[in-house]
Amino acid sequence: MIGFTLLLISGAFLCADEEFPINYDESKVPAYTLPEPLRMENGDSVSTPEQWRTKRRPELLSLFQSQMYGRSPGRPAAMHFRIGSKDEQALGGKAVRKEVSVYFAAGDGEPRMDILLYLPKQATGPVPLFLSMNFLGNHAIISDPGITLSSHWMQERKEEEYGIVDHHAKEKSRGCDAERWAVEKVISRGYGLATIYYGDIDPDFDDGFKNGVQPLFYKPGQTAPAPDEWGAIGAWAWGLSRALDYFETDPAIDAKRVAVMGHSRLGKTALWAGAQDERFALVISNNSGCGGASLSRRWFGETVTRINHVFPHWFCDNFQQYNDNEKALPVDQHELIALIAPRPVYVASAEDDKWADPRGEFLSAKTASTVYRFLGKDGLGAEDMPPINQSVQSTIGYHIRTGKHGVTDYDWEQYLNFADKYMK
Ligand code: GCU
Repeated sequence: MIGFTLLLISGAFLCADEEFPINYDESKVPAYTLPEPLRMENGDSVSTPEQWRTKRRPELLSLFQSQMYGRSPGRPAAMHFRIGSKDEQALGGKAVRKEVSVYFAAGDGEPRMDILLYLPKQATGPVPLFLSMNFLGNHAIISDPGITLSSHWMQERKEEEYGIVDHHAKEKSRGCDAERWAVEKVISRGYGLATIYYGDIDPDFDDGFKNGVQPLFYKPGQTAPAPDEWGAIGAWAWGLSRALDYFETDPAIDAKRVAVMGHSRLGKTALWAGAQDERFALVISNNSGCGGASLSRRWFGETVTRINHVFPHWFCDNFQQYNDNEKALPVDQHELIALIAPRPVYVASAEDDKWADPRGEFLSAKTASTVYRFLGKDGLGAEDMPPINQSVQSTIGYHIRTGKHGVTDYDWEQYLNFADKYMK
């Protein structure tokens, strides 16, 4: 890992390391010009919503695919589902808990992902749902002995803290991430909650794409994705779409009302999934930062260069061309949000999460409004960043809350209100 040095320059903090200078001083952000989402590559402006839908949107999507996240395949023909455990009396009788395995190839082997579902018991019809990937295994989101412990690769954690050794989950890691998951609150508001461990789809380290789902799609002789093919974020987003494929077959779920939500690298993933797959009814980015909601061209917090060096497996190889050269990017992240239009999208920042550049996240959401308005929606209903802990619930929603990088009950509260407004 790269060590950081704190430098005190003219009363302002500039956090830097030798290779990758990081700026935390608003007055030092250089001027930048953003690409215009409503201007086509040939220079013409988009003149009708139809032209946005049939020409400009596909053009932008293709740029994000080839230059940033990489192209992903579709649904594998042999993919199939198997219903696993079921508990009709979960959460003290308030929910039904079930597990569903998704096998990406024929047979019951790998690669495979396991979806954990909690559905409100009192539902009288198919329920709307929040879908969100997790970092530490399905069993980590709540302490429930009925959840299958993951046997897939896990981030190394201290055993005494998380009960995870040898990269496999152990009994005592149940519920170790529960403070980020408002399971009971979501159920009590009439929504289902589905989660998938991101390591099921692609373990989060740079191994040249030997494990995870990518090899399933290699052409004869291929050993790694091509420069414009998916990295890990592309693969995780693909997994979210495959979960939606399953929801379409489950009569207890209303697949037309699925909100995809994610935190941090999984917030980048949620945005990318929502941008590509228009079946997602609503998209939520929690503290997604660089490569997610925040603008690449704004020099504040994490940069394209730093993210590409430390996490070279997240994006496609073509993205490396933009290290120290963000202005050459044919897109910026307000256009990723614009790809979600006219569907509701919520961007959330945290006051102490400077690394993710809260202002850059806000500005990106605000600038995406041009496309929402063009399509007859209200966009983001705030000219300036709202006060701390004040949620803006227009079609593009936004808040900045007190505290650090993470997911809190306050965040969930706003997402539930937003979903009530746009998905019920
Ligand atoms: C690192 C990374 C961020 C990412 C975060 C996370 O801090 O630099 O880009 O969002 O990890 O996923 O937790």
